[in-house]
Amino acid sequence: MRASAAVLLAAASSASGAAVSASLLYTATATNSVAAAAATANTRSPTSNVKGKAFDRLAIIWLENTDYTMAASDPNLAFLATKGIKLTNNFGVTHPSEPNYAAAIGGDYFGMNNDNLNFINKNISTVIDLLEDAGISWGEYQEDMPYSGFEGFAWLNQETQANDYVRKHNPAILYDQNTNNLDRLAQIKNLTLFYEDLAAGTLPQWMFITPNMTSDGHDTSVTVAGEWTRNFVEPLLDDDRFMQNTLVLITFDENASYSIQNQVLGILLGDAVPAELVGTSDDNFYNHYSEIATVEANWGLPTLGRWDVGANVYQVVADKTGDALRTYNADDMAKHYYNLSYDGVFNSAPHFPVYPKPNLCLEHNGRQVSNGVKKIWSGNKNPSYYHDTIEVNDGLNPPYRYGFK
Ligand SMILES: *[C@@H]1O[C@H](CO)[C@@H](O)[C@H](O)[C@H]1NC(C)=O
Ligand SMILES: *[C@@H]1O[C@H](CO)[C@@H](O)[C@H](O)[C@H]1NC(C)=O
Ligand SMILES: *[C@@H]1O[C@H](CO)[C@@H](O)[C@H](O)[C@H]1NC(C)=O
Ligand SMILES: *[C@@H]1O[C@H](CO)[C@@H](O)[C@H](O)[C@H]1NC(C)=O
Ligand SMILES: *[C@@H]1O[C@H](CO)[C@@H](O)[C@H](O)[C@H]1NC(C)=O
Repeated sequence: MRASAAVLLAAASSASGAAVSASLLYTATATNSVAAAAATANTRSPTSNVKGKAFDRLAIIWLENTDYTMAASDPNLAFLATKGIKLTNNFGVTHPSEPNYAAAIGGDYFGMNNDNLNFINKNISTVIDLLEDAGISWGEYQEDMPYSGFEGFAWLNQETQANDYVRKHNPAILYDQNTNNLDRLAQIKNLTLFYEDLAAGTLPQWMFITPNMTSDGHDTSVTVAGEWTRNFVEPLLDDDRFMQNTLVLITFDENASYSIQNQVLGILLGDAVPAELVGTSDDNFYNHYSEIATVEANWGLPTLGRWDVGANVYQVVADKTGDALRTYNADDMAKHYYNLSYDGVFNSAPHFPVYPKPNLCLEHNGRQVSNGVKKIWSGNKNPSYYHDTIEVNDGLNPPYRYGFK
């Protein structure tokens, strides 16, 4: 069974010549397989206390498919914005969901324009590699994931058969570099374990939180997503087990209207936000790559050599790290909608299914490409399209060779 699944996946994985090397240990979705795996799957909660320049802990919470104006006017999200900083110029990088989640930790979406069962090759590093290299603990909390490290496509509510947990909203599980590693799988957990880790004092320093398909608004509305988020976050604002120089980011994967620019709401809050910035807004340009750049700047980490390098670091963090913020040229912005993916390995109809090489020469505010990334890629001859900019490509303005024409 496993072998035939592997063959199928390899065949489906495009003409890149890249063999699919995912650990397929935990992909089965049948109820009995899930129960059997749940009985043996391991769970880990490593901790660390590496001081950052602006925060010591980052919790990233993603909601679904809501245009900026709708999200900003939701009463519960508007309430949360009064507790922190509202990001008024923050963007998704493409459509639909999965490439946005992939981009937020890997620095690109590699042509993905679908929500398929995509396996990103083990040569592709993510922010998780950068964190581990620096001894910074990380974890994911995915609401209603049936057990730690489950790699399946989806898990339904067993009573109602409603959509519940989905792989496409779980960034770490998309990358073979993580799924080939049993320790890493054990840190990709369900949300009930957030509360166990909170009580036990074993929360990690970097965490990514995905509510289920009801709670995140995907199958419901921004009203439900706003209620869920306020219920989750508000009690934590006064909880000193959570607030330990903590920065929380609440954002959305993508805007709902494909014909307009992909602007999404972002809210930064937590005790790492200085009192004088509470209730303010930040009009600088950000996108999902800012989520990686901010981590790199805060902890002085090297980079992935992809779109993370030039992304703007959130101003509240840049104030402490000395990162200069850049503006997006208005004429260029008018041409970028971030509503379509450029070509690449995971495109549904790829013309150039090649993983771009990271740009190993990039250096930004003293941050170089990580030695781990250099080791994987130094002899590789694939083309690279990354440069040090906030104005990243989109499908309407594709990188050389990765266009549709
Ligand atoms: C991974 O990178 C190594 C080194 O560049 C290369 O030899 C190998 O072919 C790559 N594998 C894939 C599947 O791209
Ligand atoms: C969450 O994980 C724990 C520990 O593995 C498990 O006991 C529990 O059933 C899981 N809860 C849900 C809702 O999947
Ligand atoms: C999603 O989680 C919420 C609690 O946060 C729960 O009320 C809801 O039933 C869950 N959705 C499904 C489909 O199980
Ligand atoms: C992206 O937006 C542009 C401008 O509105 C529009 O012409 C194009 O059709 C959109 N692309 C998609 C895939 O929706
Ligand atoms: C989606 O984002 C664009 C900005 O890029 C914004 O003008 C638009 O209002 C958003 N959609 C809606 C309906 O709010």
